[in-house]
Amino acid sequence: MANAKTPVETLTEEEAAAELAFLAAEIARHDELYHGQDAPEIPDADYDALKRRNEAIEARFPALVRDDSPSRRVGAAPLPTFAPITHSRPMLSLDNAFSDDDVRDFVASVYRFLGRLPDDSIAFTAEPKIDGLSMSIRYEDGRLVSAATRGDGTTGENVTANVRTIAEIPDRLPAGAPAVVELRGEVYMAKSDFLALNEKMAAEGRQTYVNPRNTAAGSLRQLDASVTASRKLRFFAYAWGEMSEMPAETQSGMVEVFRNWGFPVNPLTATLCRVEDIIAHYRAIGLARPDLDYDIDGVVYKVDELALQERLGFRSRSPRWATAHKFPAEQAFTTVERIDIQVGRTGALTPVARLAPVTVGGVVVMNATLHNADYIDGLGNSGERIRAEGHDIRVGDTVIVQRAGDVIPQVLDVVMEKRPAETHPYEFPRTCPVCGSHAVRERHEKTGRLDSVTRCTGGFVCRAQAVEHLKHFVSRNAFDIEGLGARQIDFFFGAEDPALSIRTAPDIFTLAKRQAGSLAKLENIDGFGKVSVRKLYDAIDARRAIALHRFIYALGIRHVGETTAKALARAYGTYDAFRTAMTEAGTLSGEAWAELNTIDGIGDVVARAVVEFYKEPRNIDVIGRLLEEVTPQADDTPASVSSPVAGKTVVFTGSLEKMTRDEAKAMAERLGAKVAGSVSRKTDLVVAGPGAGSKLDKAREFDIEIIDEDGWFVRIGS
Ligand code: IVH
Repeated sequence: MANAKTPVETLTEEEAAAELAFLAAEIARHDELYHGQDAPEIPDADYDALKRRNEAIEARFPALVRDDSPSRRVGAAPLPTFAPITHSRPMLSLDNAFSDDDVRDFVASVYRFLGRLPDDSIAFTAEPKIDGLSMSIRYEDGRLVSAATRGDGTTGENVTANVRTIAEIPDRLPAGAPAVVELRGEVYMAKSDFLALNEKMAAEGRQTYVNPRNTAAGSLRQLDASVTASRKLRFFAYAWGEMSEMPAETQSGMVEVFRNWGFPVNPLTATLCRVEDIIAHYRAIGLARPDLDYDIDGVVYKVDELALQERLGFRSRSPRWATAHKFPAEQAFTTVERIDIQVGRTGALTPVARLAPVTVGGVVVMNATLHNADYIDGLGNSGERIRAEGHDIRVGDTVIVQRAGDVIPQVLDVVMEKRPAETHPYEFPRTCPVCGSHAVRERHEKTGRLDSVTRCTGGFVCRAQAVEHLKHFVSRNAFDIEGLGARQIDFFFGAEDPALSIRTAPDIFTLAKRQAGSLAKLENIDGFGKVSVRKLYDAIDARRAIALHRFIYALGIRHVGETTAKALARAYGTYDAFRTAMTEAGTLSGEAWAELNTIDGIGDVVARAVVEFYKEPRNIDVIGRLLEEVTPQADDTPASVSSPVAGKTVVFTGSLEKMTRDEAKAMAERLGAKVAGSVSRKTDLVVAGPGAGSKLDKAREFDIEIIDEDGWFVRIGS
């Protein structure tokens, strides 16, 4: 009997027909799990492998292509759509602490930032981290007016009708509550309700759900609110967004107010000062965990006093005043059946262990990342032995896998006693499995060490790199084109017809034009249809004007993530200024290069990657064609534009007495200033405290305005 490992070339016609039937059903099932139920059973890579296998068989037996073949469908069943809601204040995430030492570091960083001695005088709240979905619920004049999911943190989905069905969430606030209250917390499904629901599903012969969190998510995304109502969701209040008035001065006081208003708040919350007490509370919650009727994945610590929270402020995505102390991951034994190689956007070859399916903490695990060749060999980044005894990982091995939260499972160790007699060390490929180009490990210029990553040298020739580039280009923090996700990119990239194919980013924007005069109509392809094609074109057109930082991020320059893209956009203001500067900086010397290196958050590696990117003619060509279609917009200057230091480059030097260096920097950035580490001709203002040395001299030499710390407070008007 043929199975998925049988090479396509050796399949008989009968076997091929049977497998195509199986694949059509199986892929449809995964589509429904993914899109319809928010409960994928397999990772995207495995799904892609099923689709590729289907395509390969169809290519060899074109006569066997079925009417319901997955290759004739693109994307999935239509998603329920909810109107977007822009959060009045962003919904941020939390930094993580994994060990007691991480917690001590977090507490120390709070003291340091505030310029206080670590004397146990700052109070923290400690409460369970609920594994559900965060929700922002807005009340105006005491009435619930809207509810939104977190979404990307800036914009969420309007799920008001569904949230109204949650009995634990009051529709009204008591008299005396502020006029505008945006209450935030976690919607979850109790474990007992989840088990009861699954029993019912099983009894009816229907597909059961994976875990309470996914079920809660799926329940909230129902267009029919009566379905949500039947699912019995629950809620814990722990945070807030916009408030027209603050009813308390501490985190614990706010939560107490929420409780008085009738919201459930978590009973395991404590307010503590000593780090050791905080850690003891974490352990107590960990011990109680199995008996709780809801899933938790850690303990959240928050600085209690709101005035201190305000001073500590935020990093790009998370507050400095809070952290999440995660519980250790859960583990299980299984065997390695195969090692596959995936090729990423930057050409990195990532080995993945295909495992005999095993349940780890309630979720079926079938894959684990193996990171790189060294990792398989038992070596860490600095050449040290990893895992208990540094054993290598082989196909056939019994291994311990670990899963923590949503991260990809890891292979923790190999059980040597169970290694079969006939195993061989894994041979890492020397060519790219996708395009056949050489795969190499670069040598670090300075340290002379071999890079841990093996990279395909195929560049744009490599199909995998090109596709991944496009997927990155349309991803959420880049162009974010609705209706054009990873699966649609696979389709358009694979399309042969010139009126349908998308191979590079500019092709996205010429699709409608190419379609206009063609017979290969998108709307006739299963899965599209007239309405969705229209919507797709509208979504594409909506991105012809795009924020500069999104544009830069979308280019997929190595080492340039979202935060770096934002820093570059802020520093250069317009795309032209950015491109000119990067071209000038190409000599790795001179003013443009120096300026690039003074941008906060941009070190040597990133700076080199950006200028190298602009030396590649192919990149210049693609960007040139892209700019014929889209126009990057100068980024919105931060809300505090009217501040007297907005847009100015400021350098702090010498010792500061009223604030720590970190606090000064955060304050200046909040006011729209750019804080540089060294003085150049581009510096606008130097704030010098006692003991300032060479930076002060340089400022004098360049005739830059110099003020002291008091002058700074006068300048910013506080
Ligand atoms: S505080 C600005 N408290 O964890 C920080 N978050 O990783 C506001 N979460 O998106 C969040 N339990 O969905 C906070 N007791 C708790 C929480 C909690 C769960 C979730 C929340 C947030 C995520 C951050």
